Amino acid sequence: MTDVLLHTDVLIDLATAGQPQATSAETALQRCRERGGRVWLYTGAALLQMQALTEALHAAETGISPSQARAQARHWLAEFSADKHWLAALAGDYQDLFQAEHPEHEALARAAARCPQGQIHILTRNPALMERIDCACTPEQYLAMALAPAPLDFIDLKAQQDLIRPALEQNIQRVLQHGQYILGPEIAALEEKLAAYVGVEHCISVADGSTALLIALMALGIGAGDEVITTPFTFIATGEMIALLGAKPVFVDIDPHTYNLNPALIEAAITPHTKAILPVSLYGQCAEFDAINTVAAKYGLPVIEDGAQSFGAGYRERRSCGLSTIGCTSFFPSKPLGCYGEGGACFTNDDALAKTMRKIRIHGQDRRYHHPIIGLNGRMDTLQAAILLAKLPLFDGEVASRGRIGQRYSEAIQAALPNGAVTTPYVAPHQQSVYAQYTVLLNQRSAVQQRLAEAGVPTAVHYPLPLHRQPAFAHLEPPHVPVAEAMAERVMSLPMHPYLAESTQDKIVAALSRAVAEA
Ligand SMILES: Cc1ncc(COP(=O)(O)O)c(C=O)c1O
Repeated sequence: MTDVLLHTDVLIDLATAGQPQATSAETALQRCRERGGRVWLYTGAALLQMQALTEALHAAETGISPSQARAQARHWLAEFSADKHWLAALAGDYQDLFQAEHPEHEALARAAARCPQGQIHILTRNPALMERIDCACTPEQYLAMALAPAPLDFIDLKAQQDLIRPALEQNIQRVLQHGQYILGPEIAALEEKLAAYVGVEHCISVADGSTALLIALMALGIGAGDEVITTPFTFIATGEMIALLGAKPVFVDIDPHTYNLNPALIEAAITPHTKAILPVSLYGQCAEFDAINTVAAKYGLPVIEDGAQSFGAGYRERRSCGLSTIGCTSFFPSKPLGCYGEGGACFTNDDALAKTMRKIRIHGQDRRYHHPIIGLNGRMDTLQAAILLAKLPLFDGEVASRGRIGQRYSEAIQAALPNGAVTTPYVAPHQQSVYAQYTVLLNQRSAVQQRLAEAGVPTAVHYPLPLHRQPAFAHLEPPHVPVAEAMAERVMSLPMHPYLAESTQDKIVAALSRAVAEA
């Protein structure tokens, strides 16, 4: 796959359609898209291009006035650019630019050089530009290249970025201008929006999802000798944060249908040392909070939701992270709401806990250089908040499309494999999963994965080892968790993101059904 960036002369070819050169330029753009590439226009050249196009139209058509030519050029560019991508001109493109022999070529070359090597071609007919930049070529040369189509992404983050690039760039630039990189105004703005979204009083943005769990546990005073009931079928961070505080994770088995903590087994695991229950809302579906909260209330225990995979999920008219004493989430890039680095948040309705968590996030500080409690450096940085603010307007639509795509996967897999060789995810009627992962259950997992990889379909296993089987937890007495152990052997996740096209999904399901038949 490669993107194309249009130089002025090719743009003029395209605007003066009908000539053979225009036809090959149009075909090149079409081919680029078929290969999964994007067509870019360079912002630094846009006004020059409008001028050049005006002159070209004026020269081409007799009897047309300069102002009519300009109007035609604007009209054409407005229509043409509507479905193209704008590649930003940055300060570096212009630094010492006018010492270059061809400043326009130089700026374009520098902008193109920011794209990963081999992923962009500048389409031009200018020999000097082709001399200057390796990736510059004519449309005909581009058409003659044997470029592979874009590989299938397990999670595609680019499609979303294409939709919000202007807002992302503006927000990042604003932070660079105001310079409040730590606890800048975007942090408060984000916390207010996220708290309202989840439907709780307080959101405390933090460095990442693991830190969110750590801060929540610390705020509840959990430490050495304490026990925290949790699931063994999760990412390491869940148990790791408990252990980091010197407390003991007590692994309770999961429900075989939802893979979440089985509420019916919690009570038997409660001891005088139990200080909290920490269910995980795995794969994007909330744990059974009504039942969990009932047991917790009976024993006066707080409940922390590990909602790293479930931000945006619905549970009986409420939302993940607003279902227990404290909800924690992660904004790791591949999560349902992801930033472009590390990020996370804690949510609560409890004013005192919120105050404590805010303190812990900044070294236990209540005023400058005064530390009544031990905390840590757990702040989210302002740039990540700025990025999340740009992404939020898309989030409701993305949650809806995740739900649709997940359901469509299940229907298609059940239709393609009616013998039940593949078990699709069970989502209870009172739950709305955000399908952070679309995870099926099957036998012969490795063989199926191998065949899918050969067919170009990436897969993943979430998670191959339950936590108690991890060497880091080898010192714990082995828990009785047969369901978690059985699931870890058989789960497999398929590509999933809110921009997964139906045609791609159909190819994945067809490849899965072939792989299962052959495995
Ligand atoms: C269930 C679960 N808990 C916690 C985390 C930790 O989040 P982070 O990577 O942001 O620290 C993750 C991240 O993958 C997760 O999936």
